[in-house]
Amino acid sequence: MTYECILTSVHGDGPRKTGLITLNRPKALNALSDPLMDELGEALLAFDADDGIGCIVLTGSERAFAAGADIPTMLPHTFVSAFTSGLLSKNWETILQVRKPVIAAVAGYALGGGCELAMMCDFIIAADTAKFGQPEVKLGVVPGAGGSQRLPRAVGKSKAMDMMLTSRMMDAAEAERAGLVSRIVPADKLLEEALGAAETINGFSAPSVALIKELVNLAYQTPLRDGVAVERRYFHALFGSHDQREGMEAFLAKRAPKFEHR
Ligand code: CAA
Repeated sequence: MTYECILTSVHGDGPRKTGLITLNRPKALNALSDPLMDELGEALLAFDADDGIGCIVLTGSERAFAAGADIPTMLPHTFVSAFTSGLLSKNWETILQVRKPVIAAVAGYALGGGCELAMMCDFIIAADTAKFGQPEVKLGVVPGAGGSQRLPRAVGKSKAMDMMLTSRMMDAAEAERAGLVSRIVPADKLLEEALGAAETINGFSAPSVALIKELVNLAYQTPLRDGVAVERRYFHALFGSHDQREGMEAFLAKRAPKFEHR
């Protein structure tokens, strides 16, 4: 499949591979236009449907993961056209349908919709050059793809308010301290690190990986008691899988497990 605004490739040596999606509008710092978001959604769903793919990595360029939604195409909108066309709705939320882990590998700017897109991934690995921000206030608007809701959950109210109200960017070190990113690596090692993390996940049992993703996301949507109850049921349910027996037997036999993803 050939795309105009993204690149896709497949990586890895094991039986389950990693789908890599690279945002590719370098002249606009990967601004997230409608065509780009349509293609991104299509590529994400194609990798999600492919049994040979275990994990997806989403990245940008050295200079920018993405500098936000596409400002020139947003400019002419009215309230009615924004509302009726579903601006920042339909094709922005496809990523939330993906059941396989999606890792964001972020270098350079992740601003506005770029930061929001990274936060919709399952975790973020940052290059030491990464800069995160929600600068919509400078444009006379508010975040429109979940930033005002996901950023406080990731970094707490004070930092989220500071970033959104003053438009201050957070560098990689601060983002790691605040819990927005899971690890920081030198920029030239970013892809290697993200693909390495994906390869590790690909080696585990696909049902437990998919259920862990579902459970962690559930933690943001349910009271603790309900989330823990669902977790216990999923834990019990996995005793019906081949891979539970294999994982535990392999541990006791001091050998590597051979997961069959069933
Ligand atoms: N949309 C469209 N084009 C963008 C863009 C965006 N969000 N961000 C940058 N570009 C374009 C610039 O217009 C410029 O194009 P030209 O060369 O044709 O002029 C090119 O990318 C390079 O940008 P700069 O010359 O500005 O590069 P810089 O290094 O001086 O600055 C920057 C980099 C700090 C990221 C600056 O470009 C910037 O502030 N960009 C806008 C960031 C922003 O406001 N993002 C939020 C958008 S709104 C949003 O995302 C809503 C939402 O919640 C989803």
